[in-house]
Amino acid sequence: MEKKKNTRTAPSALSEAEVAKRVEAILGRLSLDEKIGQLTQLGGADFNPGPKPEDIIRKGGAGSVLWLNNTKKFNILQKISVEESPSKIPLLFALDVIHGYRTIFPVPLAMASSWDPSVAERAQTVAAREARAAGLHWTFGPMLDIARDARWGRIVEGAGEDPCLGAAMAAAQVRGFQGSYPGSPDHVVACAKHFAGYGAADGGRDYDPVYLPESQLRNVYFPPFEAAVKAGVGTFMSAYMDLNDVPASGNRFLLHDVLREEWGFKGFVVSDAFAVASLVVQGFARNRRDAAFRALSAGVNMDMASNTYPENLAGLVKDGTLKEADIDAAVRPILAIKIRMGLFEQPYVDELKLAQVVALPEHRKEARFAAQRSMVLLRNEGGLLPLKKDLKNVAVIGPLADSKEATEGSWMVFEHKPAAVTVLEGIRSKLPGAKVEYAPGPKIRRDIISEFDDMIPGAKKVVQTPEQAEIAFQTAMDTARKADLIIMVLGENADMAGEAASRASLDLPGRQEELLKAVVALGKPVALVLLNGRPLSINWAAENVPAILEAWEPGSEGGNAIADILFGDVNPGGKLPVTFPRKGSHAPLYYARNLTHAPESIQTYRSRYWDGPTTPLYPFGFGLSYATFSITNLKVSASQVKVGKTVAVTADVTNTGSVAGDEVVQLYVHQKAGSDSRPMRELKGFERVTLKPGETKTVTFTLGSAELNHWSTSAGKRIQDAESFDIWVGSDSLATLHADLKVVS
Ligand code: NOJ
Repeated sequence: MEKKKNTRTAPSALSEAEVAKRVEAILGRLSLDEKIGQLTQLGGADFNPGPKPEDIIRKGGAGSVLWLNNTKKFNILQKISVEESPSKIPLLFALDVIHGYRTIFPVPLAMASSWDPSVAERAQTVAAREARAAGLHWTFGPMLDIARDARWGRIVEGAGEDPCLGAAMAAAQVRGFQGSYPGSPDHVVACAKHFAGYGAADGGRDYDPVYLPESQLRNVYFPPFEAAVKAGVGTFMSAYMDLNDVPASGNRFLLHDVLREEWGFKGFVVSDAFAVASLVVQGFARNRRDAAFRALSAGVNMDMASNTYPENLAGLVKDGTLKEADIDAAVRPILAIKIRMGLFEQPYVDELKLAQVVALPEHRKEARFAAQRSMVLLRNEGGLLPLKKDLKNVAVIGPLADSKEATEGSWMVFEHKPAAVTVLEGIRSKLPGAKVEYAPGPKIRRDIISEFDDMIPGAKKVVQTPEQAEIAFQTAMDTARKADLIIMVLGENADMAGEAASRASLDLPGRQEELLKAVVALGKPVALVLLNGRPLSINWAAENVPAILEAWEPGSEGGNAIADILFGDVNPGGKLPVTFPRKGSHAPLYYARNLTHAPESIQTYRSRYWDGPTTPLYPFGFGLSYATFSITNLKVSASQVKVGKTVAVTADVTNTGSVAGDEVVQLYVHQKAGSDSRPMRELKGFERVTLKPGETKTVTFTLGSAELNHWSTSAGKRIQDAESFDIWVGSDSLATLHADLKVVS
């Protein structure tokens, strides 16, 4: 495709005023239908019924295309749009690039486990570079839904349960995807999704309604989204589900009052896929016409794939229900992004670039680094890990040990072919002289088949009969018996977490725990590596398997990174961004709960559930290291602080072990009384530090109004109470090192 010469000012140099001027000039020459075309996002894949995308684009009927991942085709469609369509406006190509385009990074939940926002920023910078080289302009990420229910499949796509960690990861991902401004070269425009509250779906069932009081929305669910706005995110996606009886994609409180009026968001909102049409299905809009009207009036600029806008908006303007000015207002920010991206100057992608960009060795290096930083050591009794490299006879057992799909994880880019280094491969390359035998054991699979399986050849095939599974079980046992040490790789397949992938149970699927028990009963050393996209209730393993490494879904270099940690080339330092419940039926379970009249710490009988403890299996913020650390010397710069003023909180962290390692120092606060009951603990600061043996560093946090205020149900607004606070600093959410702080008016 020939390149047009860039004769205009580089888009980065454009001021707001210049962009606005160009937007008006374009808008002024568009017909109503052409404007509505800009508000229409078209499914680019051939499974869409109706007219072919080419024909719709030729008529100016689309502003953006999604579900297409084909560089050549991007240029073909773009040429039709800029040369043949009446408006000649370039298309925006969009796709879900969630944790990597070709080089796959750990899933977002894993990256949050690094407690190092720079990991996510660097990963998304690479993801953006590859995606842009492929011809994409826009990704549907980051996913910013707070998730406190481990049954909800989409917990894997976000940063976990906490607004403070979530906000830091949100801003980092936006910076990584977008670079210095939405549309900068080698980057893609980001999309903060799914606004808002989606993670609180009733029962953890995907798409189910959400009921969240305003205090929860503002104190817990909004902060990552607001952080994304502050980081300059170009677009937002409205969520599917009902929020307090108003679907998020028809919710003016969310999309207008909060997003635009309060936060000053200037970009555009796209609905989730088919969500505008779903306003009818959800029993909110009377018909598709009403749905188009209500979504646009609520603040949805672009209709993703449901065809409701192009079908109805012109009619709504013609009969006076909507004004053309309403359409103009929706189109403006879409044009602005296209202008900033430089698409009017250079609409095409260089078809040779992707091959060069994806081959860059530094991308693989970044993926390995991110995976190393993301893993969480959950148990290491007797210092079984790190393993020695002079091992002679190792068995690697489990259905995920050689699975490229499970290693790269859920939410793969459309049509991506997994190419990960598996755990087996990673271990084999660490032990070139040893015998490393492998047996998968019985296969695992989702037992509820999704409607999408009809589109996937072979998805409904029986993967293994019970008899075959039994043979696989016995083969695994034979392999384990012959080894000196066994590494079990268990967890969930890639399709067991993600969209439409919620579960009622958090147990290891299939016969995995049975196999684990049988292998441990052999009495040999066993290390367990978990590949999974959500917390799992590994209660038995937590008591009986000496070493457990939570590797999540670690991406293309996952197997190498796991081996780096198992064999001590890297010391794990990740921490859990989510609470691990003991059972699926305990969900939602999260650390920042309010106190009750019978605090768990002092109860003498089981007042929560009488049939077992409700404390977490692993608490939020938890993770071990091959080193040990002590955190001491907690100081608050003043014992009293005036409302609106700040104090410094410092603590010393020392590596008391014999190897270098990382500790994540975490600051928690609790407001003891006041206008409202407040959570017993809330994370307000964290820092991951690297220390040599014997080394001490002082970590400093600031506490001010931003950390000590809250949105008050009693006051109906955000307030900072003059009240007393507990402060804890430590290595997880059970930290005991304590200080007091009094806020005075
Ligand atoms: C539906 C999902 O909810 C959303 O996260 C995704 O971005 C869109 N489909 C587009 O694929």
